[in-house]
Amino acid sequence: MDFRELRKKYIDFFKTKGHSHIASASLIPENDPTVLFTTAGMHPLVPYLLGLDHPEGKRIVNYQKCIRTGDIDDVGDASHLTFFEMLGNWSLGDYFKKEAINWSFEFLTKILGFDITNLHVTVFEGDNDAPRDEESASYWADLGIPRERIHYKPKKDNWWGPAGNTGPCGPDTEMFIDTGKEDCSAECGPGCGCGKFFEIWNDVFMQYNKNPDGTFVPLKQQNVDTGMGIERTVAMLSGKRTVYDTESFTPIITKIEELSGKKYGESDEVTKAIRIIADHSRTSTFIIGDQRGVAPSNVGAGYVLRRLIRRAIRYGKKLGIKPTFLSEIAKVIIEMMHPFYPELKINEKRIYEELDREENKFEETLEKGIHEFEKIVPKLIENKQDTISGRLAFKLYDTYGFPYEFTKELAEEKGLKVDEAGFKEASLKHRELSQQAQTQSFKGGLADNSEETTKLHTATHLLHKALKIVLGEHVNQKGSNITAERLRFDFTHTEKMTPDQLKKVEDIVNEQIKRKLTVTMDVMTLEDAKKKGATALFTDKYEQQVKVYTIGDFSMEVCGGPHVTNTSDLGGFKIQKEEASSAGVRRIKAVLVK
Ligand code: ALA
Repeated sequence: MDFRELRKKYIDFFKTKGHSHIASASLIPENDPTVLFTTAGMHPLVPYLLGLDHPEGKRIVNYQKCIRTGDIDDVGDASHLTFFEMLGNWSLGDYFKKEAINWSFEFLTKILGFDITNLHVTVFEGDNDAPRDEESASYWADLGIPRERIHYKPKKDNWWGPAGNTGPCGPDTEMFIDTGKEDCSAECGPGCGCGKFFEIWNDVFMQYNKNPDGTFVPLKQQNVDTGMGIERTVAMLSGKRTVYDTESFTPIITKIEELSGKKYGESDEVTKAIRIIADHSRTSTFIIGDQRGVAPSNVGAGYVLRRLIRRAIRYGKKLGIKPTFLSEIAKVIIEMMHPFYPELKINEKRIYEELDREENKFEETLEKGIHEFEKIVPKLIENKQDTISGRLAFKLYDTYGFPYEFTKELAEEKGLKVDEAGFKEASLKHRELSQQAQTQSFKGGLADNSEETTKLHTATHLLHKALKIVLGEHVNQKGSNITAERLRFDFTHTEKMTPDQLKKVEDIVNEQIKRKLTVTMDVMTLEDAKKKGATALFTDKYEQQVKVYTIGDFSMEVCGGPHVTNTSDLGGFKIQKEEASSAGVRRIKAVLVK
């Protein structure tokens, strides 16, 4: 079975169960400045999971293009991918555990032909937030799964979401295929990383909303959100050792072999390089060719794209491939994938142009950068040092366009380390100096850094918190745009706000201004920010350093700034307009008055 067949079987199956097939949403989340990419099929459906009516009804099925960049450094091994396709079916306040489990079972055993004797499932064992999921366990038992193959697991294994810091989430039940390998230890079981158990599907029962304070409150409707990775499942079904051995990749790998004259599998090094080039060129093609596609840049999604392209080029060089080659590979990818993602064909020209442009640009700086790097190495050795300073690593980044990871890889090849903390410090310092770039990368939407926009930016934090107080914790920032005259703030909320609610929000903000609260900034890891209860969408790497702005005892948000030092600077706050922005998203326009 290949990726075309599995996709068709899945969609057709759920259509027979009354589901509407919707198109894959953009990889770049709309109205969500804090998340760079769509990471799961549920992400574009959040407003509907929260209660908004979906125009296609209550039963949805699709295949969704997804990007998860937390694992970039692991790409090259047998299983990690930055781009993958996810099959999913959803109940938006319609069917729940019984139907979801029965249909999962039917699809796995009847349509895909998995042997029930190899099927293991996990369910949520229960804790203070939600009860033990005996209900799901009983449905599995009714379908003939013996009790010893139904495993109860804690939240860290059997709870999914929210996609960010807050939002819909719930206990899940995961399905595993026993590959028949030996147990690696007495504790070996589903979820063990040894490769004996293969996770094939996840049914999430999204019935809670997670609040910023860490509490879980029942949603107004019970939803089902499921996810099955196409590449992994096809590998499993066709008895392939890795995702790279499936049809999703073989034409790409053949092309890379042709361009490089090297053979996949001829050595570990060549295999790793080919996988990295294949994965990164696929992801880059999809990012540029997206319906909301971006170009390589130094901020946000554009920076991730640049990193992917440059890493692919570097491994291309290792294999001796001549520039410009990425657009050649993109051609193969577009040919394979455009029947499912027509935007790739529509944006074909742009994909080739951007890839060629970035490759040419990188070529120019690479030579100079490598030259610079090679000057550093003998000096270090002479001084018996084994670490490249953060300042130098930053210079390579800033002047020669070397992403940090790139310097690290080059250093590792020479047996050297890089001072990562020093690099982060240098880049934070740099960011302080170029406030403009900083605000774009963290928040977006700030027209300049004048006194007025800075005040309005602080007002935005007060507004965000006040909305959460008045409307509820489901309120989350979806976008922000600030000019010297006014602020515009988009947030998740389904209903129009009443005059009374608007007045309450305005009063709360004005009260904080009158309280003359001090605004302070700390730099910490995202993990620490989360522990402290700061508002943010926690989808990036937890170790990443972020700035956290605290306004007295009132608000704490991960943000790039800039902000005023005391709320009394704001004068007075006035809401001018409240309106719909897009499905499930409201927009407020407000000004500061003297
Ligand atoms: N959203 C769930 C996942 O990504 C289904 O696993």
